[in-house]
Amino acid sequence: MRDARGKVCLDLGCGTGDFLLQWVLQNPDARGIGVDMSAEALRQARETAERWSVTDRLEFHEAAVGPGPLAVPEAALDTVELVTSMYMLHEFGRNGREAIVDVVRALKAQLPGRHLLALEVEACDPEEFAAQTPPPAHFGRLDYRLIHQLSGQGLPRSQADWHGIFRDAGCSIVDPAS
Ligand SMILES: C[S@@+](CC[C@H](N)C(=O)[O-])C[C@H]1O[C@@H](n2cnc3c(N)ncnc32)[C@H](O)[C@@H]1O
Repeated sequence: MRDARGKVCLDLGCGTGDFLLQWVLQNPDARGIGVDMSAEALRQARETAERWSVTDRLEFHEAAVGPGPLAVPEAALDTVELVTSMYMLHEFGRNGREAIVDVVRALKAQLPGRHLLALEVEACDPEEFAAQTPPPAHFGRLDYRLIHQLSGQGLPRSQADWHGIFRDAGCSIVDPAS
């Protein structure tokens, strides 16, 4: 992201637009395009963009990310230079691992050549996690694990599993340390 300052970022599952707001506030030449299927989240995102006077650099589209083409105007997608997806891709795991692969493959087909930065909560063994010394600063990973299992989204995946999903979808992995 440091190398991408000043670029146009497409945030998939942008929710209330918090990340994109930070993106444009910290990078005066940057622009953001947010996509979410929740009209209410986007209403709040637009309201926040207005409050911070960045409506000229942020736009939001209501659309469902899925295994088909993203229903966002081509004119907007053509300007996209990098793609982010934070805590959204796991949601397709309700329908199994291959469903996530299909979604990533479709995104790659529609947005070729772009880097995708995907954040997800990583799997953990609850007992080992809770027994750490010193204790973890917070127990968010356990909350997440419980809530996602109860809501049918399955258990969080390991980083290796996510890398396998991206590779199966035809992507290559950029080592964050490189
Ligand atoms: C856990 S929230 C994360 C929101 C935001 N990225 C963040 O990090 O705060 C997941 C978001 O993805 C959106 N979402 C889930 N499935 C989606 C889909 N198929 N297409 C578009 N948005 C989706 C939800 O409406 C929600 O806003």
